[in-house]
Amino acid sequence: MKLVVLLASIALCAGSALPVIPGDNSHYVEGVSRYIWMDNGQGTPQLVDLEKPVDELALAEAGDGAINQYWLFTRRNRVSPQIIVNGNVTSVHSSMYNGARVLNVIVHGWKNNGSSPVNTMIRDAFLTHGDHNVIVVDWSALADQSYNTAVRGVVDVGRHVGNFVQWLINTGGGNWNRVHLVGHGLGAHIIGNAGRLALGHPVRVTGLNPAGPLWGNNNDALNQNSGTYVEAIHTDRVTGIMDPIAHADFYPNRGMDQPGCEMSNSCGHDRAFELFALSVTRNNFIGRQCINLDEAEGVTCTELPMGNADLDKRGNGVFYLTTRNAWPF
Ligand SMILES: *[C@@H]1O[C@H](CO)[C@@H](O)[C@H](O)[C@H]1NC(C)=O
Ligand SMILES: *[C@@H]1O[C@H](CO)[C@@H](O)[C@H](O)[C@H]1NC(C)=O
Repeated sequence: MKLVVLLASIALCAGSALPVIPGDNSHYVEGVSRYIWMDNGQGTPQLVDLEKPVDELALAEAGDGAINQYWLFTRRNRVSPQIIVNGNVTSVHSSMYNGARVLNVIVHGWKNNGSSPVNTMIRDAFLTHGDHNVIVVDWSALADQSYNTAVRGVVDVGRHVGNFVQWLINTGGGNWNRVHLVGHGLGAHIIGNAGRLALGHPVRVTGLNPAGPLWGNNNDALNQNSGTYVEAIHTDRVTGIMDPIAHADFYPNRGMDQPGCEMSNSCGHDRAFELFALSVTRNNFIGRQCINLDEAEGVTCTELPMGNADLDKRGNGVFYLTTRNAWPF
């Protein structure tokens, strides 16, 4: 009885109290808490009220996936993007796009844009790995709105990304069997929708710390139907979803308190794309799946590399690994 009262009062505190120390999410319980500190995109914690009403006007203007921008990078233009416009055939034919190459699509998260480090790091990694077409999706008009408003637009932005990839393949050549979608935070759920709603099915989908707040038990979240092989890398239990949602779910350092991050959720959130970018060029992180955690040192473990660029990669289940506190981790 006492325990019930205690748990109820903890839930109440976790639920509605206004947290006062910027960046301190020690109160946070997924699916229960009303407030959460998240990175505002400039490295400063911003308090998000998960019950704040969606800004319908902003959603109508900024949430239309038709205004997504698509920036093409190849080995011939590693730094300066060529803008591909859905429906403009010339923008494809006059670009460096080559349908014989692998197509990587990168989608950023909340408060980020096409120039954010998640894009530049992963773009550079893919172009180092091989002569790929890399498309960076800029959906910053919506990503810049309140968190709740941005969440509401994820499905439409994702649908447009899926349609765009189909149109690009029809127009410039290519094949869904050589398409790898990568998304960070809310971007992970965007590519989840892109993969599910497009005519074709991407062979690989990678969610980097898929966003957690408002995504638990949400049918629009990234899931196994989003691609032939779907992988999620969980690095922060507050900003990210903790449940396994993919074919293979990786939990570096048990998906929390990343070494060198000093409990910063935004550092932990960004660690997901830093680890992934490294895995593309080095393929250096090996996840282990064991009968249970206590047997992590035992012999009954299956190994699967985390991340990388291998389009033939397949795997199932939950994998753990430890990483170090500084680059190259
Ligand atoms: C189509 O794309 C080409 C090349 O990027 C550009 O020059 C042209 O103005 C675009 N056409 C339209 C109608 O936007
Ligand atoms: C893009 O995002 C980065 C942070 O990720 C920020 O520093 C930069 O100012 C943003 N650029 C624009 C045009 O909003």
